[in-house]
Amino acid sequence: MTEQKFLPFALPDIGEDEINEVVDALRSGWVTTGPKTKQFEADFAAFIGDGVEAIAVNSATAGLHLALEAVGIGPGDEVIVPSYTFTATAEVVRYLGAHPVCVDVDAATFNIRPEAIRAAITPKTKAIMPVHFAGLACDMDAIIAIAREHKLKIVEDAAHAMPTYYKGKLIGTLDSDVTVFSFYANKTMTTGEGGMVVSKNKDIIARCKVMRLHGISRDAFDRYTSKTPAWYYEVVAPGYKYNMPDTAAAMGIHQLKKINAFLAKRETLAARYDEALADLPLILPVRPVDAGSNHAWHLYPVRLKPEAGISRDDFIVRMAELGIGCSVHFIPLHRQPVWRDGYGLKREDFPVADAAFEAEVTLPLYTRMTDDDQRRVIAAVREVLGK
Ligand SMILES: Cc1ncc(COP(=O)(O)O)c(C=O)c1O
Repeated sequence: MTEQKFLPFALPDIGEDEINEVVDALRSGWVTTGPKTKQFEADFAAFIGDGVEAIAVNSATAGLHLALEAVGIGPGDEVIVPSYTFTATAEVVRYLGAHPVCVDVDAATFNIRPEAIRAAITPKTKAIMPVHFAGLACDMDAIIAIAREHKLKIVEDAAHAMPTYYKGKLIGTLDSDVTVFSFYANKTMTTGEGGMVVSKNKDIIARCKVMRLHGISRDAFDRYTSKTPAWYYEVVAPGYKYNMPDTAAAMGIHQLKKINAFLAKRETLAARYDEALADLPLILPVRPVDAGSNHAWHLYPVRLKPEAGISRDDFIVRMAELGIGCSVHFIPLHRQPVWRDGYGLKREDFPVADAAFEAEVTLPLYTRMTDDDQRRVIAAVREVLGK
C-alpha cells in the first residue's frame, strides 16, 4: 500500500467547463469583478431561492466581516460563536472591535448548543454566529427563537453548508439576517478563494455591496457600462477590498451547476464509510433526524473511542505512513493562544468541544475519490485499528 500515490485529504474537482470559462474571462479583458461575477451572483441567488440576493466576495472571511458590519456590530459588542470552529468565525468579530464570546457545542453534532447561547447572553450581546459544522445544520429553530426573544442578529457561517437543507429549506433562506458561504479550495464547491453573502434584507445587501469595494457607491462594472462618466465615483464609507474577480466567478458558475451531482457523490462516499467503519471503535458522524434535512458532507469527521487504543495524533501518523492524508476539524478556539489568552478561556469551560478535539480525525472525502481510493482509506483505517 505504501508504494501507492499519497491520497490527499481533499482535492478540488475542476473540469474543462471551469477551465474554458476562466480562459474566456482572461481573453475578454474583464479579469476583475464584471459580467461573470454578476452571472455567478444571479445563478447563486436563484439556486438558493426564496427571493435572496447574493454578493460575491473574495473569501467567506471577508463575507462574514461584511455581514457583521452590515448588521451593525461595533466596538464593545458581544457576538456568540461556537468554540468548535475555524478562527475566521471569531476574528471577523474582532475586526469590528467587538468581542467573540465562545460557547460549547453539542456532543453528537459538534454544533453550537442553543442552551449554551442562552447562558452566554449579556446586555452587550448583539449577534449569534451559528456554524453548520461539516455540513449539518445547527438547531436553527431554537437559535432563531432565542434571537427573536433577545433581539439579536443572526449571521450564519455556512462555510461548510453548500447545499444543506434544514427541515425542507436551504441554508440561506432561513429567518436569519445574513448567511455566508465559502468557496475555498477544499469546500464542496470552489473558486480557489471566494465566498458569497446571501440575504433577503435589501439594506444589508446594499451595505455589503458598497463596503465590498472601498465604500464606493458604484462598482467598476457599473461605472464602465453606464452613461454617466466612467471616471466618477463617490466614496460613502471607509470600505474594504473584498470583491470577487471574474477569473474566480468563472469557476464558480460551473461548480454551481454541478453542486447537486457533487452532493450525490459525497452522500455515496459518506454512506459507504458509515457501512464499512460501523464495527470499529469509532464514533461516526450523525445524520440529521428531521425530515427534509440533509448533510452536505463537506467533512467526514470521526472520533476515536478510548477502546481504539491509539491516540488521535498517532492515528494520523499511521494513516500517513499508509499513504492517506487526514486532517483535524477543529483545534477549538479556546485552545488557540489568541482567544485562550485574550479572553482567559479555560478547557474545562468547553468540555464537549475539548473532548471532541482530542479524539477527532477527518477522513478524506471529495468528489474525485474513486471507489479504489475509498477502499484504500477504509483498509488503512482498519489496519491502524487492528481490524
Ligand atoms: C467554519 C468556517 N468558517 C469560515 C471559514 C473561512 O472561509 P474562507 O477561507 O473562504 O475565508 C472557514 C474556512 O475553512 C470555515 O471552516
